[in-house]
Amino acid sequence: MNQPDDLARLRSEYADRARRFAGRDDYSAFNRANLFTIQSRQRAVVEALRRQGLTDLSRLRVLEMGCGGGGVLTEFLALGARPASLFGVDLLFDRLASACERLPGSRFVNADGSRLPFPARSFDILLQFTALSSILDADLRRGICRDLLRVLKPSGLILWYDFWLNPTNPQTRGIRPAEIKQLFPNCRCEFRKITLAPPIARKLAPVSWGLCYLLESLKIFNTHYLAAIRPLPPAP
Ligand SMILES: C[S@@+](CC[C@H](N)C(=O)[O-])C[C@H]1O[C@@H](n2cnc3c(N)ncnc32)[C@H](O)[C@@H]1O
Repeated sequence: MNQPDDLARLRSEYADRARRFAGRDDYSAFNRANLFTIQSRQRAVVEALRRQGLTDLSRLRVLEMGCGGGGVLTEFLALGARPASLFGVDLLFDRLASACERLPGSRFVNADGSRLPFPARSFDILLQFTALSSILDADLRRGICRDLLRVLKPSGLILWYDFWLNPTNPQTRGIRPAEIKQLFPNCRCEFRKITLAPPIARKLAPVSWGLCYLLESLKIFNTHYLAAIRPLPPAP
């Protein structure tokens, strides 16, 4: 599949997904399994930022590639980032419209992530949260990661959250650490395996939050990786 075909497939797949999920609460905070998933991912993100020495986000420029409706960027607002320093890029107009409504002081651009309309070395933090796994074309994936590295400051950080396994959805392809390392050459990558498999969380969360927490801490049923990716300094 070539890149324009994959972008067309993505647009129609997301439109189809919006129809399929209309009226469902899968992505609502009032869905216990989703709340469990979001909150444990948020804890892992905060811990990753802390390990990377980033506990003050107030002066940092943050861009999310594939920002959707801006939910993840609102979490960065809550962590202390300034609205004017938050940027989002997405393929889909309707999702960007929701993001603009949610974060009126931030900037959103309709663009493909492999052609980011920003100068080189202009962001401190880049976010890729469950966008790359929906791209099936290998060249498009590589192009996006290349452009993320282009717009990242040399001292910057890429935070990656995506699944390595999703056997039920043929419109996506999981990404494992070995591939992430290939996508970001000359970078140091730190991985954490997080997120209890959603089918398990859906069954258990309404019954026992503690059991979800216990199973997730075992890691064997976890479906996502949170990766902290930093460019290595050039060799002397
Ligand atoms: C599963 S959603 C995740 C949204 C958001 N990151 C989150 O975690 O809530 C993936 C998003 O990536 C966007 N996306 C997929 N491929 C893209 C591309 N090549 N360029 C820009 N956005 C893309 C989709 O339009 C969609 O809004």
